[in-house]
Amino acid sequence: MGYGTRVAIIGAGSVGATIAFALLLQKITSEIVLVDIDKEIVRGQILDLSDANFISSTQIHYGTYQEAGQCDIIVITAGAKQRPSETRVELIERNYKILENVIGAMQPINSGSILLLVANPVDILTYIAQKLSGLPKKQVFGSGTFLDSARFRLKISSLIGVAENAVHGYVLGEHGDSQFIAWSSAQVGGKPLLEFSELENVDKDALAKEISGKAYEIIKLKGATYFGIAGCVSSLVQCIILNQRLVRPLSTFIEEYGCVLSMPVVLGKNGIERMIDVHLDSNEKIKLQQSAAALKEICDKYIK
Ligand SMILES: NC(=O)c1ccc[n+]([C@@H]2O[C@H](COP(=O)([O-])OP(=O)(O)OC[C@H]3O[C@@H](n4cnc5c(N)ncnc54)[C@H](O)[C@@H]3O)[C@@H](O)[C@H]2O)c1
Repeated sequence: MGYGTRVAIIGAGSVGATIAFALLLQKITSEIVLVDIDKEIVRGQILDLSDANFISSTQIHYGTYQEAGQCDIIVITAGAKQRPSETRVELIERNYKILENVIGAMQPINSGSILLLVANPVDILTYIAQKLSGLPKKQVFGSGTFLDSARFRLKISSLIGVAENAVHGYVLGEHGDSQFIAWSSAQVGGKPLLEFSELENVDKDALAKEISGKAYEIIKLKGATYFGIAGCVSSLVQCIILNQRLVRPLSTFIEEYGCVLSMPVVLGKNGIERMIDVHLDSNEKIKLQQSAAALKEICDKYIK
């Protein structure tokens, strides 16, 4: 991959269009193909984005599902979004059918394509996409808890006064209510996070709730979230195009649990290169198992 990379975005709503805009600003891809079932929305987004096209030589245009299926990276945001106070898992009924239709309409998908799931519930939809697309599992993954981990790193960076990039720590498990913070492995400058005096009097459970509830708060205030996820997805696309091999917590298939959830993985030009078996203490292991069991139960209902 390189500057000639073609990226398709299926679903040109708030999240899809903001991802397109972020990619335009990054100037890392030659072509973006936008697809949406709603022809007026996609036309409107392309006209609006075209007004910003002078800052980049990336070509953005409307495409068919078939064209999207031949792109190097296919980002799927198509689907309903959470209503205020609706959990991500409650979206499954509405978004499963949409995903089935989208993947069916793109077939035969280019065997080298990377499928990046963003629509929620992202772990369950990633699992379904792995089954339906026919692509190797390392090429089909979701944005997972990358956004939650960014929220965590932002919070810690403000508590201890370091750059977000200096905080090495993850929110793992489900991108949803059963997610957890892997406190025991988090560190800054090689020093375990929990040894920082600034963290001593912090209520860790309240902080975890604040992180997992941030999306609900944004949705309550403005109806949708899209800047954060667009920042995450455009940086993942860059990581793939430039073969950066960054470590990111992404929705990936975990053999041990037989389901998809977020663990730190190495991301490169061919997709997920490997999973990092991050250290978890006994309490965190239980949380991971609970997260996995909840997700597996739902996945088994949809696909055997
Ligand atoms: N993973 C994350 O961290 C994260 C963050 C924010 C939002 N999301 C999810 O992203 C999804 C999109 O959110 P949004 O705010 O952009 O919603 P939106 O309603 O603004 O846009 C969704 C778009 O999908 C389109 N669509 C529906 N069915 C389609 C089909 N069969 N083919 C093509 N397009 C189709 C709709 O016409 C609409 O334009 C939601 O599921 C939301 O929960 C995920």
